[in-house]
Amino acid sequence: MGQNDEIKKLMEAQDLMLPPPGQEPQRQHYFIKKCREIIRAKSDKMGRPLTACSVCMGCQMNARDSEKLIGILEQAGYQMTEDENADFVIYNTCTVRDNANQKVYGRLGVLNGMKKKNPHMRIALCGCMMQEESVIQKIKKSYRFVDLIFGTHNIFKFPELLYRMLESDGRVIDIWQSTDQIVEDLPIVRKYPFKSGVNVMFGCNNFCSYCIVPYVRGRERSRRPKDILREIVQLAADGVVEVMLLGQNVNSYGKNLEESVSFAELLREVEKIDGLERIRFMTSHPKDLSDELIQVMKESQKICRHLHLPLQSGSTRILQAMNRRYTKEQYLELAWKIRREIPDIAITTDIIVGFPGETLEDVEETIDVVRQVKFENAFTFLYSKRTGTPAAAMENQTPEAVAKEGFDKLLKVVQDTARERVALLQGQTLPALAEEVNSQDVSLLTGRLSNNTIVHFPGDASMIGKIMDVRLEACHGFYYVGKAVQV
Ligand code: 5AD
Ligand code: SF4
Repeated sequence: MGQNDEIKKLMEAQDLMLPPPGQEPQRQHYFIKKCREIIRAKSDKMGRPLTACSVCMGCQMNARDSEKLIGILEQAGYQMTEDENADFVIYNTCTVRDNANQKVYGRLGVLNGMKKKNPHMRIALCGCMMQEESVIQKIKKSYRFVDLIFGTHNIFKFPELLYRMLESDGRVIDIWQSTDQIVEDLPIVRKYPFKSGVNVMFGCNNFCSYCIVPYVRGRERSRRPKDILREIVQLAADGVVEVMLLGQNVNSYGKNLEESVSFAELLREVEKIDGLERIRFMTSHPKDLSDELIQVMKESQKICRHLHLPLQSGSTRILQAMNRRYTKEQYLELAWKIRREIPDIAITTDIIVGFPGETLEDVEETIDVVRQVKFENAFTFLYSKRTGTPAAAMENQTPEAVAKEGFDKLLKVVQDTARERVALLQGQTLPALAEEVNSQDVSLLTGRLSNNTIVHFPGDASMIGKIMDVRLEACHGFYYVGKAVQV
């Protein structure tokens, strides 16, 4: 029996004649069933199913959360659609950079137009952006057509809040400042049948001075190993071959648990799960990456040959102002050690340009690290000022033109070095997990190598979810075009 079947049974067991249970997740199971009654009645009245659309912005954590939202919406009786002109629309928002926020406001304007034409339409917002007081004030004042708002800490309460929204004509707003609760066993609909994200921890304690995440996702909380392992065993039984262990800083996993467990120890246990073929994880903070982890990766048959190791800056002065707690030299040493111990590993990174006080000389330091490490891929971002973070209050904000100049220079080096590094695999035959039909050319499949490099190769939908040997024929910068081979 799959995980959702078990949850369905628990839900069916709820008696709606009784008041809602006090404990979780039973309380939410009860409210899903309640929502189902209302939605069924509405849909009977309207003579058509009620539709719901879930839009996800932001990182892998949000993607996983959105799978939970969809799981709940489906169980409540909504028919999911990609079309935002639906009876219920929910945006799971991100706030890491200001452009993420602007996107939400822009799209809300469009939704408002749709809502005027469909009086049944209900609009919900959740996720990181909702944890900001200024955002809530703005929505209350200027976006009064939004019906439901909740944040990151109480996402597990979605069924109860949805019920309250369906029951009332007014607006439901429920934002928590923090939580120590981790609620297990709510329904989930996975985007991919063969791969899945798995939360290992929530929140972040690092307080990098530019970053809003610790304020919107709260303090670090690790899930218990037995809950994580139980979830992965279940996923493997459902046909999942690859898991991505998710946390803002997985290397500090286990620190707040009663029985102290390291991330490396957790990985050793995950490795033992039958049927599972690939293990990924993200994100690693360089300051916490242990030798034990490198050793476990090196010995593992299942952990993918990929490490995402955000650099943010190559200038020790800027790193210090960012509160990253490592120097340029320490980062380089770590990268060398990883490349030495695991030669076939790919290292990818995140870099911010335009942090307060950053000069073009600082960017040269970053470029120097990129030239030395030769990241297989690097995500480069222009610094975005986030209200409430220490960096936002710094007086020496970098002029946009300087930031842009540094950014363009860096991007060019990132592209050149990545191509050089990725091209080293040319001509090799390596296993790739076929993930989807290529959106540009339907005769091609898009697959992923253990080291996270993408390869497009001829194939059909029946191969999706399989790990196949693919000959890497032509390197196109960050990705390959290849051919599946019989072995
Ligand atoms: N401005 C620009 N980029 C940021 N990031 C986090 N906060 C900011 C910010 N204020 C980037 C970091 C992080 C990635 C997820 O987003 O590089 O690793
Ligand atoms: Fe965006 Fe950070 Fe929230 Fe992920 S955790 S959605 S990156 S703000």
